Amino acid sequence: MLNKLKKQLHQIPVSGIRAFNEEAAAVPDCISLTLGEPAFDTPKDIKKALKQALDHNHTHYAAAMGDLDLRRKIAVYEWKNHHLLYDADEIMVCAGAADALSTALAALIDPGDEIIVPTPAYPQYEAIIKLEGGRFIPLNTQDHEFQISREELERVFSDKTKAILLNSPNNPSGCIYDQASLTLIHDFVKDKQIFVLCDDVYDRLVYDDSYNSFMQFQDLRSQLLAVKSFSKPYAMTGWRLGYLLADKKILAEIMKIHQYRFSCVNTFVQKAGIKALEIDPTEMLTVYKKHRDLAVGRLREMGLPINQPAGAFYVFPNIEEFGMDSVSFCKQMLHEARVACVPGSYFHAEGYIRISTCGSTRQLIEGLNRIEAFIYELRKNDRQL
Ligand SMILES: Cc1ncc(COP(=O)(O)O)c(C=O)c1O
Repeated sequence: MLNKLKKQLHQIPVSGIRAFNEEAAAVPDCISLTLGEPAFDTPKDIKKALKQALDHNHTHYAAAMGDLDLRRKIAVYEWKNHHLLYDADEIMVCAGAADALSTALAALIDPGDEIIVPTPAYPQYEAIIKLEGGRFIPLNTQDHEFQISREELERVFSDKTKAILLNSPNNPSGCIYDQASLTLIHDFVKDKQIFVLCDDVYDRLVYDDSYNSFMQFQDLRSQLLAVKSFSKPYAMTGWRLGYLLADKKILAEIMKIHQYRFSCVNTFVQKAGIKALEIDPTEMLTVYKKHRDLAVGRLREMGLPINQPAGAFYVFPNIEEFGMDSVSFCKQMLHEARVACVPGSYFHAEGYIRISTCGSTRQLIEGLNRIEAFIYELRKNDRQL
């Protein structure tokens, strides 16, 4: 009966990152720098708010759009932190950004529609786009210092383009789109019926004052959608809480998908989310910045080309000098040096590896030591050939 399952299911693999992480877990004494999983625990005030929500019996269905108190709080938070004016009825609470992305893409894609995605890109995009019967259209940025080039954009655009999916700060490169890239896209889409879906899950994890989301272009409001998450800024990955922002009429339609697929997000988790928005993530951000500086400094000392990330908590060095594809490089490093990183090809960027820097400092230092020893051996063997 396998062949009777939805055809698109056969086109998508299981998550490469998860599979690689499982392979690493089977290697004794391995340092895993694979997942974007903060070493921090969720702040205790958020956990307390969840316990109180349970004691107050917030255990019934919530509205499909989400708890109104949380949506009001998000509206204020978005204005205060990002200068975005979205009312409670322009905010839909979702089970993490993963749900917000799937729901938004399900609402946008008719079979055959094309979604332009600047690469390197978070692997979930391609999988969902294909599952919805759409076409994933990569737009190369790594040959343009991880920025958008007009020629590339014009090359990938077609009359089937339904949306552009932007992720800044970017997973895996940590780069942010500069104002030139953002303006270029703005000018390109402004007279076209194309949506711009902004995956802004790292918008609180930014180390550079020049950060701006494409959401700044409110003149295109009816074309804009944004995905946000509680997972990374508040170390709440397992809570599954995020939200989608869109213009009222657009969101009212998208909500129907959420309503029929999920009914609503856990009521008590949403109540705790209200508390989370009062937490200042600066302390965690300071640690992530130290980790970024440490990793970039060490990798440069090792002679690996690397762009300094301006946000998120990954570094993305280039490994082309070793003449191996990124999967072979990571597998050999895993088994010989017992350190796990994610191959760049999983993000449509061959020649790179992603190193997650949100684990503990001790783990990061030991992981970097092992990477250094591994590449030393590779270079030595290369010279002896
Ligand atoms: C770019 C990007 N978008 C979305 C997600 C999904 O986040 P969430 O945990 O909120 O589902 C992640 C998680 O790593 C991510 O890196």
